[in-house]
Amino acid sequence: MKLTNKLILLTGASGGIGQAIARRLARRGVRLILVGRSAQRLNHLAREINLRASGGFVLVADITTPAGLDVIRTALMALQEPLDGLINCAGINVFSFLADMEVKDIEQLVAVNVTAPLLLTRMVLPFLSRVDSRIVNLGSSFGGLGYPGYSVYCASKFALRGFSEALRRELGDSHIQVAYLAPRATQTDLNSATVNAMNEELGNAVDSPEVVAGALEKMLSAKRMRDQNIGWPERFFLRINSVLPQIVDLALRSQLPAIRRFAQSDKANDLPATPNRISL
Ligand SMILES: NC(=O)c1ccc[n+]([C@@H]2O[C@H](COP(=O)([O-])OP(=O)(O)OC[C@H]3O[C@@H](n4cnc5c(N)ncnc54)[C@H](OP(=O)(O)O)[C@@H]3O)[C@@H](O)[C@H]2O)c1
Repeated sequence: MKLTNKLILLTGASGGIGQAIARRLARRGVRLILVGRSAQRLNHLAREINLRASGGFVLVADITTPAGLDVIRTALMALQEPLDGLINCAGINVFSFLADMEVKDIEQLVAVNVTAPLLLTRMVLPFLSRVDSRIVNLGSSFGGLGYPGYSVYCASKFALRGFSEALRRELGDSHIQVAYLAPRATQTDLNSATVNAMNEELGNAVDSPEVVAGALEKMLSAKRMRDQNIGWPERFFLRINSVLPQIVDLALRSQLPAIRRFAQSDKANDLPATPNRISL
C-alpha cells in the first residue's frame, strides 16, 4: 500500500510503541487518528508531528468503555471519506504469577488486550475503504509462546493472534487485509523496572520502539501483508515451541526460580537481591 495521504486509526498512540509508529507513519505522509486516554501525551505528540496540518486528529477515549467506543464511532461517522487502516496497538500487562493476580487486573487486561480490539475492529469494518484497507494487530512473542509470570498476558495475545488469523481468512475474498505483528520485549513503560531487571539477568533481548515501528511501516507498505514475529532467537523459539514444546518446557523450567523471584518482588514493588545485584 502506498502510504502517502492514507487515513489510519491508531490506538495506543500515547504509549511507547504507538508514539514511535505515529512519528514514522507521519513522516511517510499518513494522516493519523490518534487514540488513547492521556490527552496530554496525545496532544504533545500531535504538535510534534504536526497532526492537524496533515489532516489527522486526536481522540481521547478509554477503549474498554461504551462511552470511549462511542467517541470513536461518532468521529468515524463524521468523516467525509473512508478509513484506510486500523492499528490495534493499545495493550497492558501485569507481570505476576496467576495465583497472585487480582481478579480486577485479570479482567482489565482481557478488556484492553482482547475485548477492546475485537469490538473496535467490528465497529471500524464498515468505515474501511473498499479499494485496499489494512488491519494490524499488535501481538507479542508471548502470543505464540507461554511464559511464566505472563499467563494472563499470554492468554490475551494468543487470543489476539487467533482473532487475527481467523479474521484474515474471514475477509480473504475482500479488500481488507489483516495481519498480526509480534514484537519481542521492547523498551517502553509497559515493562516495570523489575521486568527490565529480569530481562537483563536472563539475557532477553530488548528492542527500541523504533524497531517495532519500522517493522510495522514495512508491513503496511507491502502489497500483501504477512504476519511477523520480531527478533531472530524469538522466531526460532516460537518454531521450536510449536513442534517440540517439551524442549521449551525444559528450558523455561531452569529459568523458573529466577522468574518467580522477580515476580514476587514485583508484587512487593521492589527489586530482588540477586547474586549480581547489590541490595541496599
Ligand atoms: N513493550 C513491550 O515489551 C511489548 C512487547 C511485545 C508487545 N507489546 C505490545 O505493544 C503494544 C504497545 O505497547 P507499549 O509497549 O507501547 O505499551 P505502553 O507504552 O504502556 O502503551 C500502552 C498504550 O495502551 C493505551 N491504553 C492502555 N489502556 C487503555 C485503555 N483502557 N483505553 C485506551 N488506551 C489504552 C495507553 O494509552 P493511555 O495510557 O493514554 O490510556 C498507551 O497508549 C501493546 O499491545 C503491547 O502488548 C509490547
